[in-house]
Amino acid sequence: MEKKAEGTVAIILLALIQGFPASGAVEVLPSINPAVVGNSVTLSLSPSTALNSGSWAVGGSLILTWTGAQQAVFPNHTGRATVDVQTGALTLTSVTVADSGDYTVQSTSPMLQASASLSVYELISNVMLTANQKDLVEFNSAAVLTCSVSSGSSLSFLWMNGSSEVTGSDRVQITDGNSTLTINNVTRYDKGPFSCRVINPVSNGISGPVNFTISYGPDNMALTVNGRNTTSFSAGSNLTLLCSAQSNPEAQLQWAFGGELLNTTGPLLELLIVGEKQSGSYSCLALNNHTNVNSNITTNIMIAKSPLSGSDRRAVDVGLLPLLLFVGFLSSWQGKL
Ligand SMILES: *[C@@H]1O[C@H](CO)[C@@H](O)[C@H](O)[C@H]1NC(C)=O
Ligand SMILES: *[C@@H]1O[C@H](CO)[C@@H](O)[C@H](O)[C@H]1NC(C)=O
Ligand SMILES: *[C@@H]1O[C@H](CO)[C@@H](O)[C@H](O)[C@H]1NC(C)=O
Ligand SMILES: *[C@@H]1O[C@H](CO)[C@@H](O)[C@H](O)[C@H]1NC(C)=O
Ligand SMILES: *[C@@H]1O[C@H](CO)[C@@H](O)[C@H](O)[C@H]1NC(C)=O
Ligand SMILES: *[C@@H]1O[C@H](CO)[C@@H](O)[C@H](O)[C@H]1NC(C)=O
Ligand SMILES: *[C@@H]1O[C@H](CO)[C@@H](O)[C@H](O)[C@H]1NC(C)=O
Ligand SMILES: *[C@@H]1O[C@H](CO)[C@@H](O)[C@H](O)[C@H]1NC(C)=O
Ligand SMILES: *[C@@H]1O[C@H](CO)[C@@H](O)[C@H](O)[C@H]1NC(C)=O
Ligand SMILES: *[C@@H]1O[C@H](CO)[C@@H](O)[C@H](O)[C@H]1NC(C)=O
Repeated sequence: MEKKAEGTVAIILLALIQGFPASGAVEVLPSINPAVVGNSVTLSLSPSTALNSGSWAVGGSLILTWTGAQQAVFPNHTGRATVDVQTGALTLTSVTVADSGDYTVQSTSPMLQASASLSVYELISNVMLTANQKDLVEFNSAAVLTCSVSSGSSLSFLWMNGSSEVTGSDRVQITDGNSTLTINNVTRYDKGPFSCRVINPVSNGISGPVNFTISYGPDNMALTVNGRNTTSFSAGSNLTLLCSAQSNPEAQLQWAFGGELLNTTGPLLELLIVGEKQSGSYSCLALNNHTNVNSNITTNIMIAKSPLSGSDRRAVDVGLLPLLLFVGFLSSWQGKL
Protein backbone atom coordinates (compact mmCIF):
# COMPACT_ATOMS: atom_id res chain seq x y z
CA MET A 1 0.00 0.00 0.00
CA GLU A 2 2.68 2.49 1.11
CA LYS A 3 4.92 1.47 -1.76
CA LYS A 4 2.16 1.81 -4.31
CA ALA A 5 1.35 5.28 -3.07
CA GLU A 6 4.97 6.34 -3.45
CA GLY A 7 5.08 4.92 -6.98
CA THR A 8 1.99 6.89 -7.92
CA VAL A 9 3.46 10.04 -6.46
CA ALA A 10 6.49 9.60 -8.66
CA ILE A 11 4.28 9.27 -11.73
CA ILE A 12 2.26 12.31 -10.73
CA LEU A 13 5.40 14.39 -10.14
CA LEU A 14 6.74 13.34 -13.50
CA ALA A 15 3.43 14.26 -15.08
CA LEU A 16 3.51 17.66 -13.32
CA ILE A 17 6.96 18.38 -14.72
CA GLN A 18 5.92 17.37 -18.22
CA GLY A 19 2.71 19.32 -17.99
CA PHE A 20 -0.81 18.15 -18.63
CA PRO A 21 -2.78 19.08 -21.65
CA ALA A 22 -5.48 21.52 -20.67
CA SER A 23 -8.61 19.45 -20.68
CA GLY A 24 -11.38 21.90 -21.36
CA ALA A 25 -13.89 19.12 -21.80
CA VAL A 26 -13.92 17.88 -18.18
CA GLU A 27 -15.01 19.98 -15.22
CA VAL A 28 -14.96 19.39 -11.48
CA LEU A 29 -18.34 19.98 -9.86
CA PRO A 30 -18.68 20.25 -6.08
CA SER A 31 -21.96 18.79 -4.74
CA ILE A 32 -22.30 21.86 -2.46
CA ASN A 33 -20.54 25.19 -2.85
CA PRO A 34 -20.33 27.19 -0.68
CA ALA A 35 -20.43 24.42 1.90
CA VAL A 36 -21.12 24.59 5.62
CA VAL A 37 -18.72 23.24 8.25
CA GLY A 38 -19.63 19.57 8.87
CA ASN A 39 -21.01 18.95 5.37
CA SER A 40 -19.85 16.05 3.22
CA VAL A 41 -18.83 17.37 -0.17
CA THR A 42 -18.29 15.31 -3.30
CA LEU A 43 -16.22 16.71 -6.12
CA SER A 44 -17.21 14.84 -9.27
CA LEU A 45 -16.10 15.00 -12.85
CA SER A 46 -18.50 16.24 -15.44
CA PRO A 47 -19.08 14.64 -17.81
CA SER A 48 -18.31 11.52 -15.78
CA THR A 49 -15.14 9.90 -17.01
CA ALA A 50 -13.70 6.54 -16.04
CA LEU A 51 -10.17 7.03 -14.66
CA ASN A 52 -7.76 4.14 -14.10
CA SER A 53 -5.50 6.17 -11.88
CA GLY A 54 -5.06 9.66 -10.68
CA SER A 55 -4.67 12.02 -7.79
CA TRP A 56 -6.45 14.81 -5.98
CA ALA A 57 -4.67 17.80 -4.53
CA VAL A 58 -5.77 20.96 -2.75
CA GLY A 59 -3.75 24.13 -3.16
CA GLY A 60 -0.81 22.07 -4.45
CA SER A 61 -0.66 19.50 -1.63
CA LEU A 62 -1.76 15.95 -2.35
CA ILE A 63 -4.86 14.55 -0.72
CA LEU A 64 -4.80 11.06 -2.18
CA THR A 65 -3.79 9.02 -5.17
CA TRP A 66 -5.26 5.88 -6.66
CA THR A 67 -4.40 3.17 -9.18
CA GLY A 68 -7.04 0.66 -10.11
CA ALA A 69 -8.86 -0.25 -6.90
CA GLN A 70 -6.03 0.90 -4.61
CA GLN A 71 -6.12 4.31 -3.00
CA ALA A 72 -3.63 5.98 -0.68
CA VAL A 73 -4.68 8.93 1.47
CA PHE A 74 -2.07 11.39 2.72
CA PRO A 75 -1.94 12.05 6.49
CA ASN A 76 -3.62 15.45 6.31
CA HIS A 77 -6.80 13.83 4.99
CA THR A 78 -6.66 10.40 6.61
CA GLY A 79 -10.14 9.22 7.51
CA ARG A 80 -11.95 12.05 5.81
CA ALA A 81 -11.23 11.80 2.11
CA THR A 82 -12.11 8.93 -0.23
CA VAL A 83 -12.15 8.56 -3.97
CA ASP A 84 -14.58 6.58 -6.07
CA VAL A 85 -12.02 4.67 -8.14
CA GLN A 86 -14.55 4.14 -10.94
CA THR A 87 -15.42 7.80 -11.49
CA GLY A 88 -12.58 9.66 -9.78
CA ALA A 89 -15.07 11.56 -7.59
CA LEU A 90 -13.54 12.80 -4.33
CA THR A 91 -15.65 12.85 -1.17
CA LEU A 92 -14.61 14.93 1.81
CA THR A 93 -16.47 14.29 5.06
CA SER A 94 -16.99 16.78 7.88
CA VAL A 95 -15.39 19.68 6.05
CA THR A 96 -13.90 22.60 7.98
CA VAL A 97 -13.20 26.19 7.00
CA ALA A 98 -9.57 25.12 6.38
CA ASP A 99 -10.81 22.80 3.60
CA SER A 100 -11.59 25.84 1.45
CA GLY A 101 -9.30 25.96 -1.57
CA ASP A 102 -8.65 24.97 -5.16
CA TYR A 103 -9.10 21.25 -5.72
CA THR A 104 -7.37 19.66 -8.69
CA VAL A 105 -7.74 16.19 -10.11
CA GLN A 106 -5.08 14.77 -12.41
CA SER A 107 -4.94 11.53 -14.32
CA THR A 108 -2.54 9.94 -16.75
CA SER A 109 -5.03 7.46 -18.19
CA PRO A 110 -6.73 9.16 -19.74
CA MET A 111 -4.63 12.34 -19.57
CA LEU A 112 -6.62 15.10 -17.89
CA GLN A 113 -6.46 17.84 -15.33
CA ALA A 114 -9.40 19.80 -13.97
CA SER A 115 -10.03 21.90 -10.91
CA ALA A 116 -12.64 23.81 -8.96
CA SER A 117 -12.54 25.99 -5.93
CA LEU A 118 -14.51 25.09 -2.84
CA SER A 119 -15.50 27.50 -0.06
CA VAL A 120 -16.45 26.31 3.40
CA TYR A 121 -18.03 28.60 5.97
CA GLU A 122 -19.17 28.24 9.54
CA LEU A 123 -22.83 29.03 10.26
CA ILE A 124 -23.46 32.22 12.21
CA SER A 125 -25.06 31.71 15.60
CA ASN A 126 -26.08 33.90 18.52
CA VAL A 127 -25.42 37.47 17.38
CA MET A 128 -24.90 39.65 20.44
CA LEU A 129 -24.74 43.41 20.83
CA THR A 130 -23.18 44.97 23.92
CA ALA A 131 -22.80 48.62 24.91
CA ASN A 132 -20.12 50.15 27.14
CA GLN A 133 -22.90 52.02 28.97
CA LYS A 134 -26.52 52.81 28.27
CA ASP A 135 -27.07 55.99 30.28
CA LEU A 136 -25.45 58.81 28.36
CA VAL A 137 -25.36 62.60 28.60
CA GLU A 138 -25.82 64.65 25.43
CA PHE A 139 -22.58 66.28 24.14
CA ASN A 140 -20.74 64.57 26.99
CA SER A 141 -20.59 60.86 26.27
CA ALA A 142 -19.33 58.42 23.69
CA ALA A 143 -21.26 55.24 23.02
CA VAL A 144 -19.36 52.10 22.05
CA LEU A 145 -21.33 49.18 20.66
CA THR A 146 -19.67 45.82 20.03
CA CYS A 147 -21.17 43.10 17.89
CA SER A 148 -20.09 39.49 18.39
CA VAL A 149 -21.15 35.97 17.50
CA SER A 150 -20.78 32.58 19.17
CA SER A 151 -19.76 31.04 15.84
CA GLY A 152 -19.38 32.01 12.22
CA SER A 153 -16.60 32.63 9.70
CA SER A 154 -15.93 35.34 7.10
CA LEU A 155 -18.29 37.77 8.80
CA SER A 156 -19.63 41.02 7.36
CA PHE A 157 -21.28 43.47 9.73
CA LEU A 158 -24.09 45.88 9.01
CA TRP A 159 -25.24 48.44 11.58
CA MET A 160 -28.83 49.59 11.92
CA ASN A 161 -30.24 52.64 13.70
CA GLY A 162 -33.98 52.05 13.73
CA SER A 163 -34.66 50.96 10.19
CA SER A 164 -31.80 52.86 8.54
CA GLU A 165 -28.26 51.71 8.03
CA VAL A 166 -25.56 53.53 9.99
CA THR A 167 -22.66 54.87 7.96
CA GLY A 168 -19.43 56.37 9.23
CA SER A 169 -19.00 60.12 9.69
CA ASP A 170 -16.90 62.55 11.74
CA ARG A 171 -18.88 61.52 14.78
CA VAL A 172 -19.57 57.89 13.99
CA GLN A 173 -16.75 55.37 13.54
CA ILE A 174 -17.07 51.77 12.45
CA THR A 175 -13.90 49.82 13.28
CA ASP A 176 -12.46 46.36 14.09
CA GLY A 177 -13.51 44.87 10.77
CA ASN A 178 -16.82 46.73 11.16
CA SER A 179 -17.69 44.89 14.39
CA THR A 180 -17.48 48.01 16.60
CA LEU A 181 -19.61 51.15 16.34
CA THR A 182 -18.44 54.24 18.21
CA ILE A 183 -20.65 57.32 18.46
CA ASN A 184 -18.71 60.29 19.78
CA ASN A 185 -20.47 63.25 21.39
CA VAL A 186 -23.91 61.64 21.47
CA THR A 187 -27.01 63.74 20.85
CA ARG A 188 -30.58 63.22 22.03
CA TYR A 189 -31.35 61.71 18.63
CA ASP A 190 -28.94 58.78 19.12
CA LYS A 191 -31.23 56.79 21.38
CA GLY A 192 -31.62 53.99 18.83
CA PRO A 193 -32.76 51.22 18.79
CA PHE A 194 -29.41 50.04 17.39
CA SER A 195 -28.82 46.54 16.13
CA CYS A 196 -26.18 44.73 14.12
CA ARG A 197 -26.71 42.30 11.27
CA VAL A 198 -24.04 39.71 10.57
CA ILE A 199 -23.79 38.03 7.19
CA ASN A 200 -21.65 35.36 5.56
CA PRO A 201 -22.28 33.40 2.35
CA VAL A 202 -24.14 30.59 4.15
CA SER A 203 -26.10 32.38 6.89
CA ASN A 204 -27.02 35.62 8.61
CA GLY A 205 -28.22 36.78 11.98
CA ILE A 206 -29.40 39.91 13.73
CA SER A 207 -28.78 41.05 17.28
CA GLY A 208 -31.41 42.20 19.71
CA PRO A 209 -31.92 45.98 19.93
CA VAL A 210 -30.00 48.30 22.22
CA ASN A 211 -31.59 51.59 23.32
CA PHE A 212 -29.71 54.40 24.99
CA THR A 213 -31.12 56.72 27.58
CA ILE A 214 -29.68 60.13 26.77
CA SER A 215 -30.04 62.97 29.26
CA TYR A 216 -30.30 66.42 27.72
CA GLY A 217 -31.60 69.91 28.22
CA PRO A 218 -33.49 71.80 29.41
CA ASP A 219 -33.49 73.88 26.25
CA ASN A 220 -35.83 75.21 23.54
CA MET A 221 -38.09 76.70 26.17
CA ALA A 222 -41.43 78.25 25.25
CA LEU A 223 -43.93 80.28 27.23
CA THR A 224 -47.47 81.10 26.15
CA VAL A 225 -50.20 83.07 27.90
CA ASN A 226 -53.71 81.79 27.26
CA GLY A 227 -52.28 79.71 24.42
CA ARG A 228 -51.01 82.74 22.49
CA ASN A 229 -47.84 84.77 22.14
CA THR A 230 -49.55 88.09 22.92
CA THR A 231 -48.55 89.74 26.18
CA SER A 232 -51.14 92.53 26.63
CA PHE A 233 -54.28 91.82 28.59
CA SER A 234 -56.95 93.83 30.28
CA ALA A 235 -57.61 93.89 33.98
CA GLY A 236 -60.07 91.28 35.16
CA SER A 237 -58.81 88.62 32.74
CA ASN A 238 -57.84 85.20 33.88
CA LEU A 239 -54.36 84.26 32.63
CA THR A 240 -52.94 80.80 32.19
CA LEU A 241 -49.19 80.77 31.62
CA LEU A 242 -47.88 77.56 30.11
CA CYS A 243 -44.17 76.76 30.12
CA SER A 244 -42.39 73.99 28.25
CA ALA A 245 -38.79 72.85 27.91
CA GLN A 246 -37.12 70.03 26.03
CA SER A 247 -35.45 67.92 28.67
CA ASN A 248 -34.71 64.34 29.64
CA PRO A 249 -35.49 63.55 32.38
CA GLU A 250 -38.34 66.03 32.43
CA ALA A 251 -37.28 69.41 33.81
CA GLN A 252 -38.51 70.66 37.15
CA LEU A 253 -40.25 73.99 36.51
CA GLN A 254 -40.69 76.90 38.85
CA TRP A 255 -42.17 80.36 38.35
CA ALA A 256 -40.86 83.80 39.23
CA PHE A 257 -42.42 87.27 39.05
CA GLY A 258 -40.20 90.37 38.86
CA GLY A 259 -37.22 88.19 39.74
CA GLU A 260 -38.87 86.82 42.94
CA LEU A 261 -39.56 83.11 43.12
CA LEU A 262 -43.25 82.24 43.33
CA ASN A 263 -44.63 79.31 45.22
CA THR A 264 -45.76 77.66 42.01
CA THR A 265 -44.00 74.72 40.41
CA GLY A 266 -44.93 72.78 37.31
CA PRO A 267 -45.79 73.90 33.79
CA LEU A 268 -48.88 76.01 34.64
CA LEU A 269 -49.19 79.37 36.37
CA GLU A 270 -52.80 80.56 36.78
CA LEU A 271 -53.54 84.19 37.52
CA LEU A 272 -57.22 84.87 38.26
CA ILE A 273 -58.88 88.26 37.75
CA VAL A 274 -55.60 90.09 37.23
CA GLY A 275 -55.04 93.73 38.15
CA GLU A 276 -52.67 96.33 36.75
CA LYS A 277 -50.18 95.69 39.55
CA GLN A 278 -49.63 92.24 38.17
CA SER A 279 -47.95 93.72 35.09
CA GLY A 280 -44.30 92.76 34.90
CA SER A 281 -41.83 90.05 34.00
CA TYR A 282 -42.84 86.46 34.45
CA SER A 283 -40.12 83.82 34.31
CA CYS A 284 -40.24 80.10 34.08
CA LEU A 285 -37.12 78.44 35.47
CA ALA A 286 -36.24 74.93 34.38
CA LEU A 287 -33.83 72.54 36.06
CA ASN A 288 -32.75 69.13 34.85
CA ASN A 289 -31.61 67.43 38.04
CA HIS A 290 -29.68 64.81 36.02
CA THR A 291 -27.61 67.07 33.77
CA ASN A 292 -27.65 69.82 36.43
CA VAL A 293 -28.36 72.38 33.75
CA ASN A 294 -30.62 75.41 34.31
CA SER A 295 -32.50 77.34 31.72
CA ASN A 296 -35.16 80.03 31.83
CA ILE A 297 -37.55 82.07 29.72
CA THR A 298 -39.09 85.42 30.59
CA THR A 299 -42.04 87.29 29.17
CA ASN A 300 -43.26 90.78 30.01
CA ILE A 301 -46.99 90.93 30.57
CA MET A 302 -48.86 94.26 30.36
CA ILE A 303 -52.15 94.47 32.15
CA ALA A 304 -54.10 97.53 31.12
CA LYS A 305 -57.22 99.02 32.69
CA SER A 306 -60.17 97.31 31.15
CA PRO A 307 -61.55 99.40 28.24
CA LEU A 308 -64.82 97.57 28.65
CA SER A 309 -65.69 98.79 32.14
CA GLY A 310 -68.46 101.42 31.68
CA SER A 311 -67.15 104.50 33.60
CA ASP A 312 -63.61 104.08 32.28
CA ARG A 313 -64.89 103.94 28.74
CA ARG A 314 -66.79 107.22 29.02
CA ALA A 315 -63.75 108.91 30.56
CA VAL A 316 -61.56 107.76 27.70
CA ASP A 317 -64.07 108.85 25.07
CA VAL A 318 -64.46 112.37 26.55
CA GLY A 319 -60.70 112.77 26.89
CA LEU A 320 -60.08 111.72 23.31
CA LEU A 321 -62.80 113.81 21.66
CA PRO A 322 -60.81 117.07 21.16
CA LEU A 323 -57.83 115.11 19.81
CA LEU A 324 -60.00 113.19 17.35
CA LEU A 325 -61.56 116.42 16.10
CA PHE A 326 -58.12 117.98 15.67
CA VAL A 327 -56.83 114.98 13.66
CA GLY A 328 -59.92 115.08 11.49
CA PHE A 329 -59.38 118.80 10.84
CA LEU A 330 -55.70 118.24 9.95
CA SER A 331 -56.36 115.47 7.46
CA SER A 332 -59.15 117.39 5.64
CA TRP A 333 -56.92 120.47 5.51
CA GLN A 334 -53.99 118.38 4.12
CA GLY A 335 -56.30 116.90 1.48
CA LYS A 336 -56.89 120.39 0.09
CA LEU A 337 -53.20 121.08 -0.49
C1 LIG B 1 -2.69 20.07 6.55
O1 LIG B 1 -2.35 21.02 5.56
C2 LIG B 1 -2.30 22.35 6.00
C3 LIG B 1 -2.00 23.26 4.84
O2 LIG B 1 -2.34 22.69 3.67
C4 LIG B 1 -1.24 22.49 7.05
O3 LIG B 1 -1.23 23.81 7.52
C5 LIG B 1 -1.54 21.53 8.15
O4 LIG B 1 -0.49 21.59 9.09
C6 LIG B 1 -1.67 20.12 7.63
N1 LIG B 1 -2.11 19.26 8.72
C7 LIG B 1 -1.60 18.08 8.92
C8 LIG B 1 -2.19 17.27 10.03
O5 LIG B 1 -0.71 17.67 8.23
C1 LIG C 1 -20.57 68.04 20.38
O1 LIG C 1 -21.54 68.41 19.42
C2 LIG C 1 -22.03 69.74 19.58
C3 LIG C 1 -23.14 69.97 18.58
O2 LIG C 1 -23.08 69.11 17.52
C4 LIG C 1 -20.88 70.70 19.40
O3 LIG C 1 -21.35 72.01 19.60
C5 LIG C 1 -19.78 70.39 20.40
O4 LIG C 1 -18.66 71.20 20.16
C6 LIG C 1 -19.36 68.94 20.29
N1 LIG C 1 -18.45 68.64 21.38
C7 LIG C 1 -17.36 67.92 21.20
C8 LIG C 1 -16.55 67.67 22.43
O5 LIG C 1 -17.03 67.50 20.12
C1 LIG D 1 -16.82 47.56 6.37
O1 LIG D 1 -17.97 48.10 5.79
C2 LIG D 1 -17.71 48.85 4.61
C3 LIG D 1 -19.01 49.50 4.16
O2 LIG D 1 -20.04 48.57 4.12
C4 LIG D 1 -17.11 47.96 3.55
O3 LIG D 1 -16.82 48.71 2.41
C5 LIG D 1 -15.84 47.33 4.09
O4 LIG D 1 -15.32 46.43 3.16
C6 LIG D 1 -16.12 46.62 5.39
N1 LIG D 1 -14.87 46.17 5.97
C7 LIG D 1 -14.68 44.92 6.40
C8 LIG D 1 -13.34 44.61 6.99
O5 LIG D 1 -15.57 44.07 6.32
C1 LIG E 1 -29.96 57.64 14.42
O1 LIG E 1 -31.13 58.06 13.73
C2 LIG E 1 -31.59 59.36 14.06
C3 LIG E 1 -32.83 59.64 13.26
O2 LIG E 1 -33.75 58.63 13.41
C4 LIG E 1 -30.53 60.38 13.75
O3 LIG E 1 -30.97 61.66 14.12
C5 LIG E 1 -29.25 60.03 14.48
O4 LIG E 1 -28.22 60.93 14.13
C6 LIG E 1 -28.82 58.62 14.15
N1 LIG E 1 -27.64 58.28 14.93
C7 LIG E 1 -26.65 57.56 14.43
C8 LIG E 1 -25.50 57.29 15.32
O5 LIG E 1 -26.69 57.09 13.31
C1 LIG F 1 -36.23 50.43 22.47
O1 LIG F 1 -37.04 51.52 22.05
C2 LIG F 1 -38.11 51.15 21.20
C3 LIG F 1 -38.84 52.41 20.76
O2 LIG F 1 -37.93 53.37 20.36
C4 LIG F 1 -39.05 50.22 21.95
O3 LIG F 1 -40.09 49.80 21.09
C5 LIG F 1 -38.28 49.00 22.43
O4 LIG F 1 -39.11 48.20 23.23
C6 LIG F 1 -37.06 49.41 23.23
N1 LIG F 1 -36.26 48.23 23.48
C7 LIG F 1 -35.67 47.99 24.64
C8 LIG F 1 -34.86 46.76 24.73
O5 LIG F 1 -35.79 48.77 25.59
C1 LIG G 1 -44.99 81.96 19.70
O1 LIG G 1 -43.81 82.52 19.11
C2 LIG G 1 -42.83 81.56 18.76
C3 LIG G 1 -41.63 82.28 18.20
O2 LIG G 1 -41.60 83.62 18.54
C4 LIG G 1 -43.40 80.61 17.75
O3 LIG G 1 -42.44 79.60 17.44
C5 LIG G 1 -44.63 79.94 18.31
O4 LIG G 1 -45.23 79.10 17.35
C6 LIG G 1 -45.64 80.98 18.74
N1 LIG G 1 -46.75 80.30 19.40
C7 LIG G 1 -48.03 80.61 19.17
C8 LIG G 1 -49.05 79.83 19.94
O5 LIG G 1 -48.35 81.47 18.38
C1 LIG H 1 -61.97 83.86 35.95
O1 LIG H 1 -61.95 82.84 36.94
C2 LIG H 1 -62.94 82.97 37.94
C3 LIG H 1 -62.73 81.90 38.99
O2 LIG H 1 -62.47 80.67 38.40
C4 LIG H 1 -64.32 82.87 37.31
O3 LIG H 1 -65.30 83.05 38.30
C5 LIG H 1 -64.45 83.95 36.25
O4 LIG H 1 -65.66 83.82 35.55
C6 LIG H 1 -63.32 83.89 35.24
N1 LIG H 1 -63.39 85.02 34.37
C7 LIG H 1 -63.30 84.91 33.04
C8 LIG H 1 -63.37 86.21 32.27
O5 LIG H 1 -63.20 83.82 32.50
C1 LIG I 1 -35.34 64.64 39.44
O1 LIG I 1 -36.44 65.09 38.68
C2 LIG I 1 -37.40 64.11 38.40
C3 LIG I 1 -38.42 64.70 37.44
O2 LIG I 1 -38.83 65.96 37.76
C4 LIG I 1 -38.02 63.64 39.71
O3 LIG I 1 -39.00 62.65 39.47
C5 LIG I 1 -36.94 63.09 40.60
O4 LIG I 1 -37.47 62.76 41.87
C6 LIG I 1 -35.83 64.10 40.78
N1 LIG I 1 -34.72 63.48 41.46
C7 LIG I 1 -34.04 64.08 42.43
C8 LIG I 1 -32.93 63.31 43.04
O5 LIG I 1 -34.34 65.20 42.79
C1 LIG J 1 -45.79 77.71 49.64
O1 LIG J 1 -46.58 76.49 49.68
C2 LIG J 1 -46.32 75.71 50.82
C3 LIG J 1 -47.13 74.42 50.71
O2 LIG J 1 -47.72 74.28 49.48
C4 LIG J 1 -46.72 76.45 52.05
O3 LIG J 1 -46.44 75.69 53.20
C5 LIG J 1 -45.98 77.77 52.10
O4 LIG J 1 -46.44 78.54 53.19
C6 LIG J 1 -46.15 78.57 50.84
N1 LIG J 1 -45.31 79.72 50.86
C7 LIG J 1 -45.71 80.93 50.46
C8 LIG J 1 -44.73 82.03 50.53
O5 LIG J 1 -46.83 81.10 50.03
C1 LIG K 1 -31.73 82.96 33.07
O1 LIG K 1 -30.82 82.59 32.01
C2 LIG K 1 -29.77 83.53 31.85
C3 LIG K 1 -28.95 83.03 30.67
O2 LIG K 1 -29.75 82.65 29.63
C4 LIG K 1 -28.94 83.61 33.09
O3 LIG K 1 -27.93 84.58 32.89
C5 LIG K 1 -29.81 83.96 34.25
O4 LIG K 1 -29.03 83.92 35.44
C6 LIG K 1 -30.96 83.00 34.37
N1 LIG K 1 -31.82 83.43 35.44
C7 LIG K 1 -32.16 82.64 36.45
C8 LIG K 1 -33.07 83.22 37.47
O5 LIG K 1 -31.74 81.48 36.54
